[in-house]
Amino acid sequence: MKKNSRGIKYKQRTILVWNEVALFYHKRWAKNEIGPFAVTKKLLDLSKIKKGDSVLDIACGTGLVTKKLIRKVGSKGQIYGIDSSESAIKIARKWTGDPKNLHFVRADAERIQFKTQFDAITCQYALFFFPDEQKVLRNMKKLLKKNGTISLAVHGKYNVPYFDCILEPVKKMIPDYLPKYPEMDRFGTKETFTDVIKKAGFSKIVVKKFVFQYSPGTFSDYWNNYKRHLSKPLKEKLDSLTKIQKSNLREMVKDKTLEYTKKDRKIVFPWEVLVLTAKKQ
Ligand SMILES: C[S@@+](CC[C@H](N)C(=O)[O-])C[C@H]1O[C@@H](n2cnc3c(N)ncnc32)[C@H](O)[C@@H]1O
Repeated sequence: MKKNSRGIKYKQRTILVWNEVALFYHKRWAKNEIGPFAVTKKLLDLSKIKKGDSVLDIACGTGLVTKKLIRKVGSKGQIYGIDSSESAIKIARKWTGDPKNLHFVRADAERIQFKTQFDAITCQYALFFFPDEQKVLRNMKKLLKKNGTISLAVHGKYNVPYFDCILEPVKKMIPDYLPKYPEMDRFGTKETFTDVIKKAGFSKIVVKKFVFQYSPGTFSDYWNNYKRHLSKPLKEKLDSLTKIQKSNLREMVKDKTLEYTKKDRKIVFPWEVLVLTAKKQ
């Protein structure tokens, strides 16, 4: 399959998945700013966005960054939140109170166009979802004013056991569990993150690493919640395992969590996050 049609297929799948999981994502993670979502404040501090700025929040999801931008830019600023998921935007609109200077648009980050340019662009936990990230980054550059800033957050490649404890054993049993394209952790080190932003022509690149903590509860809470809130394509793959395979998988995942399990049987995972800021000059 050609890269472009793979990209289109992947984006269609992403829309279906996010329309399905947006409400759960919002209630469980974003709204409560737990674990890695505590990064939002850091991202906005590092962005140096100020009162009166015009800001575009790309892949705004259910509005976590967007909502904080309301206070940051004040009533004289302008905020646009764009996302390809209708469900996420619906939640964002309601949750942010939809003030006059905040506008949501359902759009693809690769293609979104505006007549004006922005002082700043934010994009939290989404760059790795774009099959052609260079296309999105070049679009960001086009949409920024001269000296404008981008502020991006991604999960680290290493030290994110919340995903790895489950995904490593699952991928051993079901090699095609996750779509191979694009690789989700491809920007997860300071070097790879910097390279991809440099390639798109940005300068004054600064990457900071943060490690947050997240407790999913006991192992049973972690495992059962993971299975309960899976999107349909992944659920179907897990359901295809036999009873014995499922039980073996559970034990393999449990073994992986032991090093993070405390005396009270609760798991506490570290969670590495990278925040990058850069300028269009
Ligand atoms: C993990 S969420 C992050 C949402 C929000 N930025 C936050 O920090 O909570 C990823 C978001 O990227 C959006 N997304 C994925 N691919 C996209 C694309 N090509 N164009 C626009 N949005 C996209 C999804 O719909 C989803 O809302």
